[in-house]
Formats: sequence, structure tokens, C-alpha cells
Amino acid sequence: MTEYVKIIYGDKTIELPVITGTEGEKAVDISTLRRKTGLITLDPGYTNTGSCLSTITFMDGEKGILRYRGIPVDQLAEHSTFVETAYLLINGALPKRKELETFSGLLNDQSLVHEDMQNFYQNFPRASHPMGILSSMVGAMRSFYPALQIAEEEINITTTRLISKIRTMAAMSYKISRGHKVVYPRPDLSYCANFLNMMFDTPVKPYHIDGDIVRALNVFWILHADHEQNCSTTAVRVVGSGRVNLYASISAGIAALWGPLHGGANQAVIEMLQNMEKNGLSANDVIEKAKGKETSFRLMGFGHRVYKTYDPRAKIIKKMCDKVLSKLNIQDPLLALAKELEEAALKDNYFVEHDLYPNVDFYSGIILRALGIPTNMFTVMFAIGRLPGWIAQWKESMEDPDWKISRPRQVYMGKPERDYKPIDER
Ligand code: CMC
Repeated sequence: MTEYVKIIYGDKTIELPVITGTEGEKAVDISTLRRKTGLITLDPGYTNTGSCLSTITFMDGEKGILRYRGIPVDQLAEHSTFVETAYLLINGALPKRKELETFSGLLNDQSLVHEDMQNFYQNFPRASHPMGILSSMVGAMRSFYPALQIAEEEINITTTRLISKIRTMAAMSYKISRGHKVVYPRPDLSYCANFLNMMFDTPVKPYHIDGDIVRALNVFWILHADHEQNCSTTAVRVVGSGRVNLYASISAGIAALWGPLHGGANQAVIEMLQNMEKNGLSANDVIEKAKGKETSFRLMGFGHRVYKTYDPRAKIIKKMCDKVLSKLNIQDPLLALAKELEEAALKDNYFVEHDLYPNVDFYSGIILRALGIPTNMFTVMFAIGRLPGWIAQWKESMEDPDWKISRPRQVYMGKPERDYKPIDER
């Protein structure tokens, strides 16, 4: 039985249907509100707005639940690979053996990057941020790989092309930024092992591929693979809603992810911890600063729009931190600082009252540092992981028969109509 919400406005009473999701979450369908009452809704930051119906990812922010296509993320982190999880997100079901082989084969076939694209890297100023470079390079892929129809086979090629090449481009960018020779992908290596090899292998010091480190990278990317309608995913959907191509939509998603309140937080956390170390700041110094409203400073890696409890991804990453550091025999003083900061924040009234807990970015930078990833590439690592989610969400929006171009309204608060004044009369 459909439930309704009654709205009384002036002499009108209207009923709006309530939509119930698989897990019982409810939403008022306001799509007829303006037509029936002349009213629009106002919801800055979309804190109460559901922008679509989706079958991809489920989150419960109160209980700390995250599932991709119904499967809990902790099960995927334990048993799956990043490639298998990418397939799951994009296609809706775990692949059968043959399907996984075909998908992996396509990833291998698509792993080279057009040699001319290497010239781009040479011409970016040395200090360019890798996220800016990545966003530009993905946008440029439309020119290098123009065939892009909605036909299913073409979509499979385009999606595997993106997933495969983004990893090659990220590693290539790193090598060129260091003035080193580019390392090409190898067909005998898995997706994650290939990335590590392309990043760290050199002619004078062959990279030793360690199964535990490859596993850690798989888990890192699985945990970042989708997070429903966050800022960058919304950017991908909004840009795509104008029916622009996938590359342009993903390029916009990368730009959105770059921000320090979103994916850029992993870089900001490490910089915050380094600043503590360098200036001898205590956990309490940082917490007091984050609580104060005099500056815009926030405790980076803490808080989330949806999670009002511990981010389930952060729990897994925190455990993985200890494992990776002990495997690599690294004692990172920043890990001790992070733990101290977390303990102090979780006891602090302000953080308790505001439901602020560590999010995925709080510990992730410590793992990336241990793997040898430079700090300014942390958000690139997030982007590689999030790509399957962006693709799945873009594809879902393209296939939605009710999809409309994204075009919110506004409440105009500017000047009423007034006449143009010639320049000498102003
Ligand atoms: N440190 C101090 N105060 C905070 C923090 C923080 N990290 N996060 C939120 N608050 C306070 C905020 O000042 C506000 O206080 P008051 O109501 O007294 O004015 C209250 O909590 C609500 O904050 P909000 O900005 O309205 O909450 P939001 O849902 O819009 O923001 C957030 C979510 C993630 C942007 C925010 O928590 C934040 O800035 N965190 C730090 C940056 C960060 O770690 N981002 C990564 C998010 S997880 C990765 C991803 O998915 O992108």
C-alpha cells in the first residue's frame, strides 16, 4: 500500500507519495510539488535530497553499513579483488570464472596508453598537482579514443579502457615527474601488481612484488570503489545528464574528488599529522583548533555527511595499517600520532555531540606512505579506486528511462528589476 505525505499550503491540500527502498529507507516523491503548489524545495548541500533511485550501493550511516550490490564491503575486502569488485559494481553481479577472465583480458588489452599522450606530461609545469593532470588526461582520452557508442560491447571496451589506462597514466605521470623512464604494463601481472611495478620498478633496482602488499592495495581500492551519491559521483551524474561522453563525466568526477573536504582529505590528513610532528603540536592542540570557529580548520579525516558512527572502511583500513607497516618493517611516527589524535577526539564532547568519527581518509595515507606513494598522489589513488563506482553510476543514469538533465532551481534573492544606467551616471 502506498503511503502519502500531506502538504497543506494556503487553501490547497496535496498528497505526495512515499517511496520505500529495499532496506526500508523512505523518501517523499516531490516531483509534482511545483506543478501542484507553485513551491520548490530548498535544500543547500542536498542534505535531505535523494537525487535518484539506485541499485548499486547501500549505506546506513547510523549503523555504519556499506554494501556494494548487496554484498557487505568487509566481505569483499576479505575475499574479493579490486578487478572482481569493479565487475560487480559495473555489471550488478559477481562474475563467473569465464566472465572474469574476459574482463581481465580486456583490462590487459587496454593497458597501454597512446604514446602521444606522454608528451602532455612533459609540458605540465613541474609543480602541477597530479589530480589536475589526471582530470585533464582523462578528458583528453575522448580525442585519443573517440569511438564511444552506447552499444553494450563498446561500453565494455570504454569502461575497461578507462579502468586499465587510468592506472597506467597515474604511474606514467609519477615516473615522468621524477625524470625516469616509463615502465610499461606487463601481461603476466595482476591489475594491482602491475600498478606497483609500473610505479616502482627501475632498470637499476627491479621491484620485488610482494603478495601481501598487492593484497593491501586490492583492499584499499575495494574500499574506495563506490560510495553512492557523494560529491564526485554526483558530479559524474550531473555532467553526464547533459548526455556528454563518459570520459568528460569522469574527468569532472576527478576534479570534484580533488577537494580537501572530499577525496583530497587523505592528503590533508598526512599534512596535518606532519605539521603536528614538525611543530610539536599535541593532539589536544589540534582538537582545540578544529573545535574553534575562528578559522576554517577542521580535523581532517573526521566526520562524514552520512556516517554518524565509525566509517566501516576506516575500521578495515586502520587494521590494515598495522599489518602493512609490520610487513614492511616500518615504524611510522605519524601512525602513533594518528592513533593519539583519534583517541583524544573520540573522548572529546564536541566530537561526541557532533557524531564525528574517523572516516576512510584518516588512516589511508599512512598505508599509502608505507607503499611509497608520494603524498600529492594520494587522491589519485582514491580516484583509481572510485572509478568503477563512477562508471557504474554513469551507466545506471544513462540506462534510466526516467532520467532527466540535472537542472536544479533556486530562490532568487538579488535586486528587483532596475534600469541600466549609462557609465557616467553610476
Ligand atoms: N572537524 C571539526 N568540526 C567538524 C568536522 C571536523 N572534521 N566535521 C564536521 N564538523 C562540525 C562542523 O563544524 C559543524 O559544526 P556546527 O554545527 O557546530 O557548526 C558540524 O560538525 C556539521 O558539519 P557540516 O560541515 O555541516 O557537516 P557535513 O555533513 O556538511 O560535512 C564533511 C561532512 C566530511 C565535509 C565534514 O565532516 C568535514 O569537513 N570533515 C573533514 C574533511 C574530511 O575528512 N573529508 C573526507 C570525507 S570521507 C571521504 C569522502 O567520502 O569524501
